[in-house]
Amino acid sequence: MIISIKIARMNRTRRLRAKEGIRRLVRENTLQTSDLIYPLFIEEGQGVEKEIESMPGIKRYSLDKLSVELDELCSLEISAVMLFGIPTSKDEIGSETWNDQGIIQKAIRYIKKHYPQIYIITDVCFCEYTSHGHCGIIHDNDVDNDATLKNLAKQVISHARAGADMVAPSGMMDGMIKTIREALDSEGFYQLPIMSYAVKYSSAFYGPFRDAADSAPTFGDRRTYQMDPANRREAFREASYDEQEGADILMVKPALSYLDIIRDLRNEFDQPIACYNVSGEYAMIKAAAAKGWIDGEKVMMESLLSMKRAGAELIITYFAKEVANLLNKK
Ligand code: PBG
Repeated sequence: MIISIKIARMNRTRRLRAKEGIRRLVRENTLQTSDLIYPLFIEEGQGVEKEIESMPGIKRYSLDKLSVELDELCSLEISAVMLFGIPTSKDEIGSETWNDQGIIQKAIRYIKKHYPQIYIITDVCFCEYTSHGHCGIIHDNDVDNDATLKNLAKQVISHARAGADMVAPSGMMDGMIKTIREALDSEGFYQLPIMSYAVKYSSAFYGPFRDAADSAPTFGDRRTYQMDPANRREAFREASYDEQEGADILMVKPALSYLDIIRDLRNEFDQPIACYNVSGEYAMIKAAAAKGWIDGEKVMMESLLSMKRAGAELIITYFAKEVANLLNKK
């Protein structure tokens, strides 16, 4: 006797997962080397190649040592970098930021001369250059927004003159995009795009970076200018103002704890969305992997892919070289 067991028609999502051949055909998001921007810490002086303890694999370089890093980036086909400078002298207002012979300006000229294929984005801020470590001029124990704007304009013009391809202001000052756009345009740099750190949270995930860049505030914290991690609607407002003021790319920072915000911005705005996979996110994966508690490579790829899935087109990440290496092997 033949017994026919009737299994009711089921929704079977596993069909499209059964073999790699089909999984790759239906994959919705992919990570590519061309999505990545690699941060570089450049220190004034000579012979500097200093490992950053809390960011294994990441170093501070002086210009004379930078070519090793740049050669590697070129061979991996990572063509975009974001520059952070560590000057020898700091002052109350961060005047070194608009010195045409400053470390960032020299680095831009050096890279443009020897590696013209590299696209140079500069972080535009003051915290690495002020004696108090805050992102602008201090009045009454707080950053004076409008006084800081005037110096921001000087800083971007100096970067632009040195040959930067894009500027990325990270100080969270009100009106910074308008100020910078007007300054650039008035000097003829109307083709130079601005990537705004539009939604930057006051986050404990920046800890290792502040060691790397010597930029921890000597008093207080950044909560009067960086956003409260509790807020979501405010992110929309921040991004809208920056869009109106002329930001070409909108960034969310940090990335992993703020994937919802990346998605919100992707849904609301037409501009490309960037995210910054920050130092603390890097350090956590590195530390757990070193202990053998997680598979570092897989967690790295999964977390970066989640940023793409959330809606980011550009990812600034300390993992860029490792990711490119893995992708090239495939
Ligand atoms: C400010 C700046 C910071 C980072 C990038 N730009 C530090 C801060 O706001 O304190 C943090 C990046 C990271 O943690 O990787 N110039």
